[in-house]
Amino acid sequence: MASRTSLQPPRTIVFITGASQGIGQQIARTLSTPSVHPGYHVIVGALVESEGEAAVSRLLEEDSSRSLSVIPIDVTSDASISAAAGKVAADFGRLDVLINNAGILLDGLEQTVTNRPQFERTFQVNLFGAAAVTEAFLPLLAEAETASQGPPRIVFVTSRVASLAVKSDPTDRSAARHFPMYRCSKAALNMLMLHFASLNPGWKVNGHDPGLTNTPLAQGQAGAGSVQDAAVNAVRLATLGGGGETGTYSNAFGIIPW
Ligand SMILES: NC(=O)c1ccc[n+]([C@@H]2O[C@H](COP(=O)([O-])OP(=O)(O)OC[C@H]3O[C@@H](n4cnc5c(N)ncnc54)[C@H](OP(=O)(O)O)[C@@H]3O)[C@@H](O)[C@H]2O)c1
Repeated sequence: MASRTSLQPPRTIVFITGASQGIGQQIARTLSTPSVHPGYHVIVGALVESEGEAAVSRLLEEDSSRSLSVIPIDVTSDASISAAAGKVAADFGRLDVLINNAGILLDGLEQTVTNRPQFERTFQVNLFGAAAVTEAFLPLLAEAETASQGPPRIVFVTSRVASLAVKSDPTDRSAARHFPMYRCSKAALNMLMLHFASLNPGWKVNGHDPGLTNTPLAQGQAGAGSVQDAAVNAVRLATLGGGGETGTYSNAFGIIPW
């Protein structure tokens, strides 16, 4: 398991699921840039370890002073989640920031919800995975709080299309887009986020919508934006201080109605 760190001892430990490509990789890129976020160590959570290694190599080629490591994690496997949490505990003894980014979109633009295996798989990754990962990392986040590392932060990467207000507004451009399995899983993820926010009132637990973004998940939909833009609000939420918000659902333009 690769671990490459800079000479500076890391002060802020970040773990991102699904970070070997797409928006997760971009969040890793930004948070591990020492000139912007000094002292941050980013752990790239990767479904396929070799792809995580390749992502770390790319990021180090861009800037060799980054502090990065890789931990394999399949969010649908409790054994994999437990091994990942155990590795973070052994390497760092705490976690300051958890970013639940791993996600899938299987229903494309279909309108059917009767594909039970796809529906179940979508929830396994997007909801049950984020729930199990968060619960497994709670003790390590609590360690960060005890060590006075500032408020522990959890970012749930959700979507604006999860908003009931957006879906029920016929004038909203995304209301007519379907993918109901994905929308349902992310709407439930918003409730899960609020659960963890209320459980830990001193922490900063928030939902982030990246917006339609040009990654494999977006399946070539027209109008997709850049991963750079998609990561900005996630990074803001991942670096909140004591005065920052908690229990919110936002994107680069501000608060999203539930
Ligand atoms: N792109 C958009 O337009 C958009 C809009 C709103 C919200 N989002 C959300 O943003 C997040 C990132 O998506 P993205 O657009 O960057 O898509 P992406 O490029 O497909 O990245 C998704 C990541 O999740 C990983 N993953 C999938 N299943 C996993 C599992 N079982 N365990 C662990 N990791 C798993 C993937 O690993 P592999 O590459 O190895 O499969 C990949 O690294 C997702 O939660 C998505 O729902 C995206």
